[in-house]
Amino acid sequence: MSQHTADPAQAPSTSASTSASASVPADAPTGWWRDAVIYQVYPRSFADSNADGMGDLEGIRSRLPHLRDLGVDAVWLSPFYASPQADAGYDVADYRAVDPMFGSLLDADAVIRDAHGLGLRVIVDLVPNHSSDQHEWFKRALAEGPGSPLRERYHFRAGKGADGELPPNDWESIFGGPAWTRVADGEWYLHLFAPEQPDLNWDHPAVGDEFRSILRFWLDMGVDGFRIDVAHGLVKAAGLPDLGAHEQLKLLGNDVMPFFDQDGVHDVYRAWRLILDEYAGERIFVAEAWTPTVERTALYVRPDELHQAFNFQYLGAYWDAVELRDIIDRSLDSMRPVGAPATWVLSNHDVTRHTTRYANPPGLGTQQRVAADPALGLRRARAATLLMLALPGSAYIYQGEELGLPDVVDLPDEVRQDPSFFRAAGQDGFRDGCRVPIPWTVDGPSYGFGAGGSWLPQPASWGALSVEAQTGVPGSTLEMYRSALAARRVHPALGAGDRVAWLPAPEGVLAFRREPRGDGEAFVCVANTTGADVRVRVPASARTLLTSSAADDIQHGDGHAVVPADTTVWFTV
Ligand code: GLC
Repeated sequence: MSQHTADPAQAPSTSASTSASASVPADAPTGWWRDAVIYQVYPRSFADSNADGMGDLEGIRSRLPHLRDLGVDAVWLSPFYASPQADAGYDVADYRAVDPMFGSLLDADAVIRDAHGLGLRVIVDLVPNHSSDQHEWFKRALAEGPGSPLRERYHFRAGKGADGELPPNDWESIFGGPAWTRVADGEWYLHLFAPEQPDLNWDHPAVGDEFRSILRFWLDMGVDGFRIDVAHGLVKAAGLPDLGAHEQLKLLGNDVMPFFDQDGVHDVYRAWRLILDEYAGERIFVAEAWTPTVERTALYVRPDELHQAFNFQYLGAYWDAVELRDIIDRSLDSMRPVGAPATWVLSNHDVTRHTTRYANPPGLGTQQRVAADPALGLRRARAATLLMLALPGSAYIYQGEELGLPDVVDLPDEVRQDPSFFRAAGQDGFRDGCRVPIPWTVDGPSYGFGAGGSWLPQPASWGALSVEAQTGVPGSTLEMYRSALAARRVHPALGAGDRVAWLPAPEGVLAFRREPRGDGEAFVCVANTTGADVRVRVPASARTLLTSSAADDIQHGDGHAVVPADTTVWFTV
């Protein structure tokens, strides 16, 4: 194998991220969330306590010790509210009630209390862009007919064409098909997602009042924060103007759309921030804001708005050193002036798991249904995780990635439930593959997910990937995550700060140094994204702290280390 030489011991280069002048003032607040590792629980697929094949809150409560042992700081729970489940709970019928399939408000209270007892914070999902079509407001709006004041809380319009038979504008649903549905009396309503998810009208004062009250309800329940669903979508351009493009899906993510990332959303978040700050305990907001650039994302986390925003540009990057370094620099550079931590995420419930994405050549995007080389995918995914966890800021982990779970790419069509699959033109048609219930035990009817089946079928390989199978096994993916998260606690330099110091590295390799805040050890992280081993120079004092390649001993000594193909190594120096 070819070997290259890099010298992480040399002085750092002055890259954009090390030389930017604007910086967080020295006395900036250093909250727990600035370098927190936050674990996403997808309730229906985490743990099932009553053998109905569907995960629930009591199941989550019973498995919280796993998250404590894993070493995360907080848990983010995807929606568990009363919902007809047209979009797996992202269609909320009652924002103050728990869906019976997940349990009760008492169960939610028990999860929050137990999590706190274990030292874990709890973040809940808030879905303000749209309600369910079974929400009381929408049901009444429909029943009362045109002219009903309730219709003003949504976007009802007359259609175009001689008989109003055409939608009011040309917007398409993110899930495919028109973004408008016509009701029996002839009016149309807007839904950027499924027809069962009518968009709320944030120009109507009652909508803002209601959500401020919902915020208080859950804050009073003791939650530590909110993940804001479709945070970029609440405000629509005045007059709902036509897009005038026939390929909206290609534009999404690249341009500011009349229904996404409108400047008016920031007024909403300023008002929310005032409420949050009334509560003790450093509670936080994290935005799901798909914006065209990290620079636009930074607007959501200005000091008087939200705390964090997911870094989807990072998630969308391939396992490629140039692409990764570029997005790391741009992320740090755009967050530093507003004083917000960068965030890093590789997987969630809406995209193909990174183990599967990296099993394929670049270019397939975040939705794909194949895994060309699963072993390579896992190797790269583990390396990508150690890279992510060495970056300054906060990192998000999606349930099951600590087990190295791949997407289930061969689910039969008849078991699929993702609404976007049925509106096949949508961008996210294949989200069921990352939502398969996770395995806890080697055997059992659903590998310990529950005492019954599971709402999506689990592959036969799931037992060998279970928590039980990997616990205590040196080099297993689970033990690698545990070691990495334990190291972040012992060595705060790993997640702290707002910059990395890049070191010279050969093509395909990322090497950077991380400094401790006070006394303590510095780190060097070397990520080799190439398919060949790389020889790097390391200081004589360097010790290997952790490596992503289970079977590879890092050859080390004489001021050099050999970093194997598709591997990340952490060195203390
Ligand atoms: C967000 C959620 C996704 C959901 C959509 C509509 O993108 O993450 O799962 O389908 O919003 O609520």
